Amino acid sequence: MKKVLMITCDYWEEEKPKTNLGVATLVHYISDKTDDIEFDYISIDANNKSKHLSNLNIASMEEYNVVCFGIYVWCVDEMLDITYELNQLSERPIIVFGGHEVTHEFIDRIGESKTDVDHFIIGFAEEALYAVLTEEETKRVYDKVEIPSLVAGVYSNEIVLLDGVETVSVETKRGCPMGCSYCSYDVGKTRKISCYTCESVLNEFDFLKDKVKKINIIDPIFWMGNYKRVIEYIYNNGFGNQFTFQSEFLSISGKLDEELLEKLSSLNVVLEFGLQSISEIVHKNVGRMFMFRVVEEVLDKLDYYGIQYEFSIIRGLPGETLESYKNTIDYAIGTKASKIFCYPLTLLNNTKLIQQKIDFEISSFCENGLEYVDSTYSYTKSDYLSMKLYEEIIAEYRK
Ligand SMILES: C[S@@+](CC[C@H](N)C(=O)[O-])C[C@H]1O[C@@H](n2cnc3c(N)ncnc32)[C@H](O)[C@@H]1O
Ligand code: SF4
Repeated sequence: MKKVLMITCDYWEEEKPKTNLGVATLVHYISDKTDDIEFDYISIDANNKSKHLSNLNIASMEEYNVVCFGIYVWCVDEMLDITYELNQLSERPIIVFGGHEVTHEFIDRIGESKTDVDHFIIGFAEEALYAVLTEEETKRVYDKVEIPSLVAGVYSNEIVLLDGVETVSVETKRGCPMGCSYCSYDVGKTRKISCYTCESVLNEFDFLKDKVKKINIIDPIFWMGNYKRVIEYIYNNGFGNQFTFQSEFLSISGKLDEELLEKLSSLNVVLEFGLQSISEIVHKNVGRMFMFRVVEEVLDKLDYYGIQYEFSIIRGLPGETLESYKNTIDYAIGTKASKIFCYPLTLLNNTKLIQQKIDFEISSFCENGLEYVDSTYSYTKSDYLSMKLYEEIIAEYRK
């Protein structure tokens, strides 16, 4: 029996599971294929890193054959520190790095410390990690890993426990064809939509039905692939839970026929739209398709049927001006959106936008390991502060 330890650093939230969904999915996937691997799991609370890290018992990790790290932008240094300490053990485990931050550039960047790591997995990790854990000879870097066939079941198989949990996240598909330049979704490799088997998703819903209040569907865009069957099932089987769906205007617009609208209106659903901006220049700059007419048509239909929706807006995309940002917020307030969130533009590695820093005259500052944009060719640092101030008028929409 091989013993494997998974370590991630996550922003813990009250009433949500403390197990990372990505890790749970990997454990489920691999445990389904083999009985010869036993998994343990540590999640470090990103809100409370130093306390959690000081409680880590590195010496006890000697008992594992393999230790896998989820490398995300907010925890790179901490994970490298743990790896360094693991390497000082007399019988050190095999070390595997995966997670969004792992790219060829990242592997180059970590320089000397990369020799501490035995395997890097770039992209979806299911197939690659299974190979690392089961094959005798494996590659050092796994790249462009195929999307595996996906089977839901992290809750019904008790990989994620639900004690005291009211809100859970479920994936019904992966992939997004859109390619917005700022997005953390690793475009090029994940544009193809790949659905979980419908039966396994519906089985998971049945398990969750009487146990949790809210089910967040975290697909980057829900309205593709298997969405119709999922909605039909919730509709036909009397689910009282609240469901939230990540939504984007162009991809939903052609699908909102009378039948779907009627079903949605009788369910407890919230459509979470990324509005981002109402400036066409901004959308053009970030390679995101946008038609204001479509936004209005979609919202008219949702309003007519009384379907709840929320917006997220990004502060400071290239091409935004103080005026266009205010217009976006004013527009959002004028709709029936029940919540409006504004997020500062984060410059993420592994995105197109980070390579366009010079073209768009982007300047940024660092906070808690994240890089935030605070001026571009179209607005100054002072405009940025005014944008932030203007957001006060949506305070009541954030509750
Ligand atoms: C997965 S998207 C939402 C739904 C849909 N995919 C869309 O784009 O409209 C989640 C939200 O996170 C925010 N977001 C994504 N990348 C961001 C970045 N680099 N900086 C700030 N916010 C970002 C955006 O507001 C985005 O709408
Ligand atoms: S922002 Fe949304 S629509 Fe754009 S690439 Fe990311 S997930 Fe897809």
